[in-house]
Amino acid sequence: MANKTWFVTGTSTGFGRSLATYLAQQDGVNLVATARHTAQLSYLDEFDKGQILKQTLDVTDRDEIKTAVQATLDKFGTLDVLVNNAGLGYFGTFEESDRDQVKYMFDVNVWGLVDMTRAVLPTMRHQNAGAIVNFSSIGGLFSFPTLSFYHGTKYAVEGMTESLAKEVANKNIKLMLIEPSGFRTDWAGRSSSKAIPKIDDYQQFAEFIEGNAKGAHHEAGDPDKAAQIIYDQVTHHFADLPLRLPLGKFASEQAIEKYETTLADFKKLHDLSASADQPEK
Ligand SMILES: NC(=O)c1ccc[n+]([C@@H]2O[C@H](COP(=O)([O-])OP(=O)(O)OC[C@H]3O[C@@H](n4cnc5c(N)ncnc54)[C@H](OP(=O)(O)O)[C@@H]3O)[C@@H](O)[C@H]2O)c1
Repeated sequence: MANKTWFVTGTSTGFGRSLATYLAQQDGVNLVATARHTAQLSYLDEFDKGQILKQTLDVTDRDEIKTAVQATLDKFGTLDVLVNNAGLGYFGTFEESDRDQVKYMFDVNVWGLVDMTRAVLPTMRHQNAGAIVNFSSIGGLFSFPTLSFYHGTKYAVEGMTESLAKEVANKNIKLMLIEPSGFRTDWAGRSSSKAIPKIDDYQQFAEFIEGNAKGAHHEAGDPDKAAQIIYDQVTHHFADLPLRLPLGKFASEQAIEKYETTLADFKKLHDLSASADQPEK
């Protein structure tokens, strides 16, 4: 069987690095490991038998996206799995968050993912096959205080992914949202800006923000295990790939609780909701 080519964004640290490390050791896999600074990808050298391409890629730079996709096709001839992993966080109350920093997070988490995905869809449609793995978060389903704009990025990713999945289903292109709870990566540390509340009314949230920063690299989730699960799902469960995959016990419990309470609320409201329609003829 021909090798499958995986293209992963943000492989310098965290989930991306774990996934790249795992993929680099699998038979039948070509790996395109991308990062803003490819010097950070030397950890892959020991696995390189010619099946690895390291590529400079800032997902906010559409020229770099175009170049990276073309370099992939030039070297491997196909692009079978895109993993939109690169992402940032931002902790701050809704009222006090810095607009420019939040907009930049949307550029990375939302528009970077959009531009990457659009760049590979023509190849996947032409191949009549492909998988796109989009990193959302349990924060794409459930919201905490002080993360409103991060949630905004991930809820956007959820909605777009669900819609796109329906548009490309007949081209044998599958989409999967990864919804992790806390994992031991750089996300809560260096990858998340923090705006400690200054307004008195929000002081009670300072501790939550500081606690998350201090908790970085002590979370329950293991990114190496996540990497194996993602590879296994795409490789061995492609036919029934889940659209949403919570990762971590907390994520799974939160997702179930959110859907159960929301379902109960919708059922309670059903008659009222339906009463807003014109009477059926
Ligand atoms: N860890 C968690 O608890 C958790 C939970 C839910 C969801 N997630 C999601 O998981 C994904 C990966 O994050 P992580 O947890 O692995 O954190 P991480 O260790 O901080 O990794 C983030 C990666 O994104 C890259 N990145 C940031 N901005 C970029 C840009 N403009 N272009 C290209 N790459 C960029 C970083 O590269 P540099 O080294 O160049 O900065 C780094 O490789 C994110 O989408 C995050 O929202 C994480």
